[in-house]
Amino acid sequence: MVAPDERADRWMSRIEDEAARMAGLVDDLLVLARFDEAPELEREPVELGEIAERVAAAIGARAPATPITVDAPEPVTVTGDRDRIRQVVENLVGNAAAHTPPGTPVRVAVAARPAPPADGAAAVGALPPGTARAAVVAVHDDGPGIAPEDLAHVFDRFYRVDQARSRGGAGLGLSISAAFVAAHGGRITADSAPGRGTDFTVVLPMA
Ligand SMILES: Nc1ncnc2c1ncn2[C@@H]1O[C@H](COP(=O)(O)OP(=O)(O)O)[C@@H](O)[C@H]1O
Ligand SMILES: [Mg+2]
Repeated sequence: MVAPDERADRWMSRIEDEAARMAGLVDDLLVLARFDEAPELEREPVELGEIAERVAAAIGARAPATPITVDAPEPVTVTGDRDRIRQVVENLVGNAAAHTPPGTPVRVAVAARPAPPADGAAAVGALPPGTARAAVVAVHDDGPGIAPEDLAHVFDRFYRVDQARSRGGAGLGLSISAAFVAAHGGRITADSAPGRGTDFTVVLPMA
């Protein structure tokens, strides 16, 4: 038997969760609507390793069961919109924490290298032709992975693999991320298979 007080607490906490989810949905819708209306970016030097460290610390505080490591051996600086780039990395690391079982390790790697060719099962955006060097932020998790038929849609607005699960948000995070990355002249790819985890890779042209 559950005591009435305990049941009321449980309902209150569900109502609070749903309210937070609605607030998140409204935030995401506003972000998208504003960016659709005026897709303008700041242009400032942004060091991606620092962003990765900050995001890992913030998500680590929210999801203490998720071990997050950052591999950023040297500074990698692009010209872009710091807040938007941080949001992209936050969405990817947040997803890796939210859509995997507690305790699933997440790795974030930041590096500069020759612009990699387009690959991956799903991608949005394209580097400007002739881009020689690129900044790469890769987020890997050892979670359950995403089936190919779902992977093809993860960047679609409102797409969520499991609509019934309450983890995560409204299915807008990746479409927002894709819009921000593409506006920077970059590319975001998703690569995954059930049983071997998921990789999201952001490639941004370097100045
Ligand atoms: N790292 C991941 N592992 C497994 N599934 C993922 C991962 N990242 C995203 N997904 C799937 O892609 C969907 C879309 O992601 P997103 O646009 O961020 O929406 P949300 O996180 O709000 O559900 C998620 O609902 C989830 O089903
Ligand atoms: Mg998300």
